[in-house]
Amino acid sequence: MASSLKVLIVDDDPDIVTFLEDFLSAKGYNILTAYSGEQGLNYVYTEDPDLILLDVVMPGMDGYAVCRQIRLNPLTTLLPVVMMTGIHPEERIKGIDVGADDFLTKPINQDEMFARVRSLLRIKELHDVIQTQATQLAKWNKELKTKLDHETRLADVTCMLGDIGHEVKNMLMPVLSGTELLQTELDEFFQSLPSPVLEKAKNSQRICEDIIDMVTRSAQRIQDQVKEIADCVKGLTSPLQLSPCDLSKVVETVYKTLQVLAVKKGITLQGENLESLPHIQADEGRLFKAFYNLVNNAIAEMPQGGSVTIQGFEDSSNSCIQVAVVDNGRGMPVEIRDSLFSTRVVSRKAGGTGLGTKIVKDVIDAHGGTITVESEVGIGTTFHLLLPYSPPDSLQPKH
Ligand SMILES: Nc1ncnc2c1ncn2[C@@H]1O[C@H](COP(=O)(O)OP(=O)(O)OP(=O)(O)O)[C@@H](O)[C@H]1O
Ligand SMILES: [Mg+2]
Repeated sequence: MASSLKVLIVDDDPDIVTFLEDFLSAKGYNILTAYSGEQGLNYVYTEDPDLILLDVVMPGMDGYAVCRQIRLNPLTTLLPVVMMTGIHPEERIKGIDVGADDFLTKPINQDEMFARVRSLLRIKELHDVIQTQATQLAKWNKELKTKLDHETRLADVTCMLGDIGHEVKNMLMPVLSGTELLQTELDEFFQSLPSPVLEKAKNSQRICEDIIDMVTRSAQRIQDQVKEIADCVKGLTSPLQLSPCDLSKVVETVYKTLQVLAVKKGITLQGENLESLPHIQADEGRLFKAFYNLVNNAIAEMPQGGSVTIQGFEDSSNSCIQVAVVDNGRGMPVEIRDSLFSTRVVSRKAGGTGLGTKIVKDVIDAHGGTITVESEVGIGTTFHLLLPYSPPDSLQPKH
């Protein structure tokens, strides 16, 4: 162990240097010798010693000046320095002032010197180990942070992508049902034409059919692509865009968007007591998305006829509004009901992702609200939502 350690002896007295060098090299240390303060300081920076035995009184740069320089440099500030002083206590006080670690009084006692050198080198070795570990730790920490930042960004992007994907898929539904209705309308129209006129209109009919076919195929292709994305991700992250929000307007927009779908199945979409609700601080876009999903789900699970009703109720004592989305559709079995709002949801729908109710819950959670469901097969389903007048501070976006 000692053989790998380097001791620098700095003294202008060659006899003392030789005496120390002989003794310490016999103990297995590597010895460097310098005969002036300047030469000693030079070795400190070029030879990287593990300990210095430093004479105090030397011509030119004395031991105090050398020690002071060593302490000033961050690379050598912890390098052990043993000062070899005379018997005067002031010399030690001055040595302590400039940062010496230990002292040897001249004439030097070999055993004492060896004991002090060994003890300081032990401390130096331990310090070196800690230093290496700290450097390694700092490196790992930096690598970990970079990785974490990268993964957080990636997760954000992935969630966002899933969210947008689901939205696109939902918005394609009216396009697909609209084109289907358009096709029926056109068929009826062309069939109603008298034969001579129909003959002339054949070309227009073909063009209309081609266009409808193209729109339907493209919409279906987009839907397939988006489903792939949605299958990969289930979540929602970006900050809320809060503003005073009129829930009755949100529901009205949702109903308008889903009107075609509802009319096609003879379903009534209605609101109860929504106009009387107070405006709440909410992200209107997100609320639209939540109610769209709930109503869209209800329509899908409804036989011909039936109704979806959204009822509002103000709970001023709890500073919140309560909303119920009630349908008299086919209801859902317990295993589906209990898996709703999670990534375990099983979709019963062709082309469904099972992402919709998870998104609804994410929206309600992001507003500091709650959502629960009651459902009975053959009777219908009711989603109960609770939304605070304003999301708690902890959930509000930081500016
Ligand atoms: N109002 C409802 N009545 C009956 N069953 C429902 C109702 N709402 C949801 N479900 C059931 O819960 C399942 C999961 O709904 P969710 O919205 O999470 O996904 P999805 O509708 O299947 O797919 P996507 O949202 O991608 O269209 C639905 O497939 C359906 O079986
Ligand atoms: Mg859905």
